[in-house]
Amino acid sequence: ASEWILTLTAQTPTNIAVIKYWGKRDESLILPVNDSISVTLDPGHLCTTTTVAVSPAFEQDRMWLNGKEISLSGDRFQSCLREIRARATDVENKEKGIKISKKDWEKLHLHISSFNNFPTAAGLASSAAGLACLVFSLGKLMNVQEDHSQLSAIARQGSGSACRSLYGGFVKWIMGKEENGSDSLAVQLADEKHWDELVIIIAVVSSRQKETSSTSGMRESVETSLLLQHRAKEVVPKRILKMEEAIQNRDFASFAALACADSNQFHAVCLDTSPPIFYMNDTSHRIINCVEKWNRSEEAPQVAYTFDAGPNAVLIARNRKAASLLIQRLLYYFPPNPETDMNSYVLGDKSILK
Ligand code: PMV
Repeated sequence: ASEWILTLTAQTPTNIAVIKYWGKRDESLILPVNDSISVTLDPGHLCTTTTVAVSPAFEQDRMWLNGKEISLSGDRFQSCLREIRARATDVENKEKGIKISKKDWEKLHLHISSFNNFPTAAGLASSAAGLACLVFSLGKLMNVQEDHSQLSAIARQGSGSACRSLYGGFVKWIMGKEENGSDSLAVQLADEKHWDELVIIIAVVSSRQKETSSTSGMRESVETSLLLQHRAKEVVPKRILKMEEAIQNRDFASFAALACADSNQFHAVCLDTSPPIFYMNDTSHRIINCVEKWNRSEEAPQVAYTFDAGPNAVLIARNRKAASLLIQRLLYYFPPNPETDMNSYVLGDKSILK
């Protein structure tokens, strides 16, 4: 075989849910029990950069994460690779004199190298950016014709929340009705320019790996929490509509009230799980208290908080002024200290504070 190599590099930011996904109705296809809404960080912050390469010299599919080889044998990687390969089309690179036909893709192997520009150990959502970037870069390499929503349904099978990172701005993951998952995909609610006053700050409360993975946590909640059933049926559908409205109108007071309430309910579901799951710690609770008190002392809320499956706080400030006041307060009340569980702050967003 002639020796050639074709490569492609893409970058994908992570996303933060403001209406949470928690619970699957189908574990292998990754179909959720409710819709969710997230904000995708701007490129450059908390993102994954992935280079995919194809060559007849490669003998097997291989992947490296942050320079270390990882196994591709898991079902989730395999689903993504299979779904993307099935949609590959003819590729021609005249410059290099390379022609790959639809059929060739079945036999050719891939090498994938992925880097996170944030510490993976910090327990910050990394799978969302990673799997979205993998699916997107492979789709480009293989000249897959599907649009971003259809690609999102493939990324979903790698990691649920990954489907929301295929778009920038505000994104909704529609749970869908079909048993085969074909309509469980992401759509963009508003692009990245729509509400660019918001500033996101992540307080790294602990860099330890979480004890309960989201996969097993969700499974236990679905099996044991009555609150989860109530949340999925009665609470989230209404909240989704209100959140969509708040985003369209850039109504920060409603946005913050909904995001904070939803984060708190997600953690209440974790507590309602048997055995209970504790993702937040004392520092997380103190941060909530501090933000709640501040918001109540002002005419209108200044900051929203949301916590994923770990103790780190994602804080969304209404504008730059609120963000710089927030940083001052955080540094005063929660100075980074290696002796305690407060580590550092990461600016996750658009407007770098100057
Ligand atoms: O996609 P997963 O398995 O990493 O689950 C993500 C779950 C949460 O981050 C807690 C909520 C969400 O909607 O992102």
